[in-house]
Amino acid sequence: MATERTLSIIKPDATKRNLTGKINAKFEDAGLRIVAQKRIHLTPAQAGEFYKVHAERPFYGELCDFMASGPVVVQVLEGEGAIAKNREVMGATNPADAAPGTVRAEFAESVGENSVHGSDAPETAKEEIAYFFAGLELVG
Ligand code: CMP
Repeated sequence: MATERTLSIIKPDATKRNLTGKINAKFEDAGLRIVAQKRIHLTPAQAGEFYKVHAERPFYGELCDFMASGPVVVQVLEGEGAIAKNREVMGATNPADAAPGTVRAEFAESVGENSVHGSDAPETAKEEIAYFFAGLELVG
């Protein structure tokens, strides 16, 4: 399997509870390498642009407000099949459905406040990484 990069976000519910290190340990234990990382505070408009694919969903407003409610840690994870591997480590979107040991099973509070985001496909990963990082910031 090819080496890939994926965009990960540690969301405000998790940064608020000081879980960044515990979540990063799960990524690293799974063989993912954090090749870029920064802590930022999004505006609702910046969150809205990132999640524009969900603009028609009923939860869009709530999602944008939540993502702007506190700091997030945006990061690029690299590894063999990193996109799928990260999704495995995160667990299902709804923590009620997430497998034991996954980030969302252990830490997520609800389907909305679900601790982490990860890209879902190579094309989205490329776009999402470019939204937050310049090429010079990616240090493999
Ligand atoms: P994420 O992987 O970041 O991608 C879109 C996000 O929308 C998703 O995680 C959830 O946090 C959020 N989301 C999905 N369904 C709902 C819902 N029913 N109510 C609120 N937020 C949701």
